[in-house]
Amino acid sequence: MNNLANKRVLLGVSGSIAAYKSPDIVRRLQDLGAEVRVIITNGGREFVSELSLQTVSKNKVHDNLWDKDAELAMGHIELAKWADAVIIAPASANTIAKLCHGKADDLLSTVILATKAAVLIAPSMNQQMFASKAIKENLEILNNRGVVTIEPGFGEQACGDVGEGRLAEPIEIAKQVANIFSNNTLSGKKVLITIGGTIEAIDPVRYISNHSSGKMGMALAHACVQAGAETTLIVGSISVDVEKRANVTYITSANEMYDAVMKKIKSQDLFISCAAVADFRPTKISQNKIKKDSNLSSIELTRNKDILESVCKLKNKPICIGFAAETENFIANATAKLEIKKCDAIILNDISNTEIGLNSDENEVHFLSQEKTEKIDRSSKQIIAEKIIKKVTKYFF
Ligand code: PMT
Repeated sequence: MNNLANKRVLLGVSGSIAAYKSPDIVRRLQDLGAEVRVIITNGGREFVSELSLQTVSKNKVHDNLWDKDAELAMGHIELAKWADAVIIAPASANTIAKLCHGKADDLLSTVILATKAAVLIAPSMNQQMFASKAIKENLEILNNRGVVTIEPGFGEQACGDVGEGRLAEPIEIAKQVANIFSNNTLSGKKVLITIGGTIEAIDPVRYISNHSSGKMGMALAHACVQAGAETTLIVGSISVDVEKRANVTYITSANEMYDAVMKKIKSQDLFISCAAVADFRPTKISQNKIKKDSNLSSIELTRNKDILESVCKLKNKPICIGFAAETENFIANATAKLEIKKCDAIILNDISNTEIGLNSDENEVHFLSQEKTEKIDRSSKQIIAEKIIKKVTKYFF
């Protein structure tokens, strides 16, 4: 079992007596194939030596936000970008509270704010502290933001108390870090996703399009690949990197997207229609650039075929998940789309709010199926995508 092969894991060690177990956590992560770097907080340093962590990790231990040399090489932003996963073990009550409030007063808390990697925390503290309302509420907030908690164990504690709050065993921590990379819920399944905007030409220079960046669709592509699916993408106009492990067909117009989808749809298990497809195209595309003095006062438009609706009408249709990009009457409009297009579920997003939805890094969505409507709270598009794929797997496979 080498589930962490080629994975870069950043271990944050904060101030808890259980920090003495952190060199063993490094070893267990390495056993699963990970390259490990360590950040230690001032509190952590009270319980374990940097030399031990440096020796087992075979890397310099990072501890100072204001280290001038580090900023030239592996500074906080580089560390945040380097990591595929960040695990804080042990996570003290103070560190949990800092993460919860987005504080950035030391290297570890700053890296957590700056990273796009998955974040896991393994709390470790006195049982009474762990039972407190403050800790429970802080953990709930962090979990809603996508942070994974590795539950502490029950038993006798260093202070003599008996209860819940002991750091999970190093081997268990390493396994749970590995689990986030080895979710095989879509293993053996084929997924087709449309991504980005379409471009409808007016003449060789001008066109009609929209602001879709492809971020939401590419996050879904990443989540499907991570879940083990054979993933195919039909990609329009985007401004993000393409998921390299997927099969990709590039298109420009809605008509081209329709043809590409119809060519690939046979044998797919799941179709996700995330693209912002133009509903209309100019009826005539001028072969030459339209001149300023041509007296053109309007452009005649022709309705494009609805790709999602067409796929939903196929005899052996895959599970079909559509999106609804709305600016008003959100639930009512999305419900109407679910009914009219006859898809299995619709993901509703509010594109009137510039902080979420179209061309932004975050989203907040409602998952509407024939049975129920569930909200997925505001988060990065990657976390939203993972939650969508979890629901799709749970309800339809
Ligand atoms: O790309 P980003 O910047 O990350 O932004 C993400 C997003 C806002 C584009 C995405 O989350 C989203 O909402 N995509 C759907 C946009 C859209 O076209 O919504 P709609 O409500 O107009 O269409 C409803 C559904 O029908 C969508 O699944 C759409 O892909 C599909 N459709 C629409 C028209 C058409 N001719 N063919 C289609 O398949």
